[in-house]
Amino acid sequence: MHKAFPSNFIWGAATSAHQVEGAAAEDGRAPSIWNVYEREPGRIFRNQDADGAVDQYHRFPEDVALMRAMGLPSYRFSVSWSRVMPDGTGAVNEKGLAYYERLTDALLAAGVTPCLTLFHWDLPEALQQRGHWLNRDSARWFADYAAVVAGRLGDRVKRWITVNEPTIHLLYGYREGCMAPGMKVSFPETLRQLHHLQLAHGLAVRAIRSAAGQPVEVGWTHACAPGVPATDFSEDREAARAATFDMPAAPDDTEALHASAWWNDPVYMGRYPEKTLKDWAAWLPPMEAGDREIIAEPVDFCGLNIYHSHLIRATASGPERTAWPWSRPVTTMGWPVTPEAYYWGPRFFYERYGKPIWIFENGMAATDGVSLDGRVHDPVRIDYLRRYLRELRRAIGDGVDVRGNYVWSLLDVFEWNGGFKDRFGLVHVDLDTQRRIPKDSAEWYKGVIESNGGCL
Ligand code: FCB
Repeated sequence: MHKAFPSNFIWGAATSAHQVEGAAAEDGRAPSIWNVYEREPGRIFRNQDADGAVDQYHRFPEDVALMRAMGLPSYRFSVSWSRVMPDGTGAVNEKGLAYYERLTDALLAAGVTPCLTLFHWDLPEALQQRGHWLNRDSARWFADYAAVVAGRLGDRVKRWITVNEPTIHLLYGYREGCMAPGMKVSFPETLRQLHHLQLAHGLAVRAIRSAAGQPVEVGWTHACAPGVPATDFSEDREAARAATFDMPAAPDDTEALHASAWWNDPVYMGRYPEKTLKDWAAWLPPMEAGDREIIAEPVDFCGLNIYHSHLIRATASGPERTAWPWSRPVTTMGWPVTPEAYYWGPRFFYERYGKPIWIFENGMAATDGVSLDGRVHDPVRIDYLRRYLRELRRAIGDGVDVRGNYVWSLLDVFEWNGGFKDRFGLVHVDLDTQRRIPKDSAEWYKGVIESNGGCL
């Protein structure tokens, strides 16, 4: 047995509303930008849609029972904004809110701690029509929605994530147009949207705290593809750190825009990277008095979603990406398997921001199917998770304060543009019958949980 994880470490699995719920037009739910986008031919693998998804809206008791059987300590789910507030603002849809109350109560009754994400990319279409994140009012819309959900569930849910992966939502959804809503805004507009999304986050942190009625933990979660040093030399390590945080001088490199400083420094440190402030001076959005304080409203943790990373070496002209060796496998998403991401990502973020780290997503897509023996064997996923978690344990051993790990995903779900092609689940879902079969990895994860990582 290896050294176990800290005794208060939380093991979990994650999903998001749009990807699992289905019931797209039921009980008063209105469309989100994803429902609209999915109607456009060619956007999604085989033109699939998430109207029925994996039907968690109706099957949540079965899913909670699966979690209980797995001994799962925590479940991360998200709330569909347009289910709770069909117009995005104003009237609350009681039936929608009641669904999340039933889900939360079922989780608690099963001994599974809920972890709630308020926004996982599914902006109400009504708010898209009102100018989405380009409209400064969006910050207030989001805070009002946060207050409604926290007012109802804040007495039972203790861990809240405001926004899931702001980079992916804005850069892919609005800048490159390859995810919903499929827009291509200009670079200054991207910066304006981000400013509003950061304000939305900060106002929501305040709203959640004041509506919850008990002390709660709040933060957001970033899509982190950290730099990994190509060698042990400190030059390469510092190059990898720079590649993780520094923003490009010019906005023509959208890939480099995923680097984290502009997105996260204002939230965790209350300031913007100095060099970028100068480089981007001509494009910066208008900021009002008090904005920085709202954005920097203190949070309780630094959330990271980590799947892969970039191999970085130092060169005379700065950090340079170098290709992973051919021996590295890639998943069906085309993402390289890079367990080192689980060491360097948490370490770099902890060193920079000093906040407890939570991994809210990690896992791999494969083409798992049911074998002749009626079971779903996914040894590659077990190997993947094992390699990553051993790196996480190494980070913890080196002093990084990591509090929890959520596998993406509990179930095979609707994987955005990939439709149902990319299967990430610990539990297999037959898409014709909605039958659930725990994969070998679910059994394995149960053992990880029972031994608190000791079996890794
Ligand atoms: C993340 C998303 C999540 C899921 C995984 C594979 O970027 O947050 O919804 O699609 O990727």
